[in-house]
Amino acid sequence: MARKALIAGNWKMHMNAAEGCQLATDIAGQMQEYTDREVLLAPPFTILRDVAAALEGKKILLSAQNVCWEEKGAFTGEIAPNMVQDAGAVASIIGHSERRQIFLENDEMVNRRLRGALAGGLMGILCIGETLEEREADRTFNVLETQVRQGLQNVSSSDMAKVVIAYEPVWAIGTGKTAAATQVQEVHSFLRELLAKIYEKELAEQTRILYGGSVKPANVDELMALPDVDGALVGGAALDAKSFGRIVNFR
Ligand code: PGA
Repeated sequence: MARKALIAGNWKMHMNAAEGCQLATDIAGQMQEYTDREVLLAPPFTILRDVAAALEGKKILLSAQNVCWEEKGAFTGEIAPNMVQDAGAVASIIGHSERRQIFLENDEMVNRRLRGALAGGLMGILCIGETLEEREADRTFNVLETQVRQGLQNVSSSDMAKVVIAYEPVWAIGTGKTAAATQVQEVHSFLRELLAKIYEKELAEQTRILYGGSVKPANVDELMALPDVDGALVGGAALDAKSFGRIVNFR
């Protein structure tokens, strides 16, 4: 069964409301009509509602960059899944390497956030990836297996319909260094086999696995041509309408 491609733009901590609405409108203007791919933007929480209004009637989905596992309560500084949904998001990025590395989120928290997102009816984009040190120590596959197994703990087969995996080698994020196509395909096929082991083959075949880490107009076509790459999670190049438009229009 063909998997629908997903191109996601992660705006990180960039853009005020006016800038974000302009960028979203410009991106929509760059896009051709598609039935084989979905496009998703993840602006900061504070401008979700504004960007949603700017994109009214356009075929672009919105995502949060993180959500809490609880629905409400005394969790200062956190945002609940139903709050981002109310603001127009249908998804959330979960466990981005910046959350893991800078804000010390561990696999258990990532798992709780993912389950919270799913319980709240959101699509969860579970990010995983090895550091340079881990790759050089030949621990890439061990690290990824742990992140996947722990990240997906108690996530049922039926919930997996709303889970997307994003493989983002930490050393390739924001560095301009993209993993080589052979490295990417090797990891993605390993991840699909792992999903088949944890769940079943059919589910693994249906789950989308995105690549992230310095995706840009110059490398998107090669990456998207890989058999197990089902989309991209884009940071830096998502802040420029022309670049992101070209990435969305991959061939
Ligand atoms: P990058 O970021 O495209 O700037 O490398 C990707 C990400 O962090 O999702």
